[in-house]
Amino acid sequence: MNVHFEMLGGGQDTILFAHGFPFNNTMWAGQKDLALEWRLILPDLRGMGRSEADLAGSVTKMEDFADDLAKVLDIVGIEKCVFCGLSMGGYIALEFWRRHADRLKGLILCDTNAQADAPENAQKRFETAQRVERENSAAFLADANMQSLLAEGTLKQKPEVVRKYVAMVRNNNPTGVAAAARGMAQRHDFSNELQNIDVPTLVLAGEKDALSPPEAMRALAERIPSAEFHVISGAGHLAPLENADETNNIIQNFMRNRIE
Ligand code: MLT
Repeated sequence: MNVHFEMLGGGQDTILFAHGFPFNNTMWAGQKDLALEWRLILPDLRGMGRSEADLAGSVTKMEDFADDLAKVLDIVGIEKCVFCGLSMGGYIALEFWRRHADRLKGLILCDTNAQADAPENAQKRFETAQRVERENSAAFLADANMQSLLAEGTLKQKPEVVRKYVAMVRNNNPTGVAAAARGMAQRHDFSNELQNIDVPTLVLAGEKDALSPPEAMRALAERIPSAEFHVISGAGHLAPLENADETNNIIQNFMRNRIE
């Protein structure tokens, strides 16, 4: 499986960024300044962006994504990272912790949750996957989800963020998007395992995130013994893209003060 990734910067510690669904690594464009102090690894997850997809009709589990990213670390010869995941990237971050804890120095969980899908939500994912394959395009998802993913302020005042969001979704590989949707429907439930996370953890929530609201993210952070929680002002579900400066300041403090 060919996973495309960019590597930037250098320094003692590495941050590995896992994007959300159905995006690509350009979601983290606003975080590239962090390369002044740390090494950043920015993969396109399997089947998205420039990475190769599984065969049509397949399922890419969160476990598969996590194992792909452990292999990326092997390829670049890096033993341990701080794993930063947004939404689906957060589901993958928890899998990475479960499967590759020895490679983890810290976790950054953005706009995500720890629960598995309820059956009706899982069913909707399968229907989404079918439609993406039938239309041979994920483009309809861009319009369908825009209002719930981006904050009103972003929609009105940040046309460059809206353009990036639309481009990421429209240009994605339908086979990869469908496989990831099926994988999310079958993901592991971590609700009762959060108390076992023993690496420094940063939990970030967009103030206006309708999908993973700040109260739910705060509750998630409270179950992780080593977690700190911050709200990103004015941002929706794509907080690091919608308010990059505030996100970067918080990540910077976390990296400087909590990662050894
Ligand atoms: C994402 O941004 O990755 C999605 O909202 C995740 C999901 O659909 O659960």
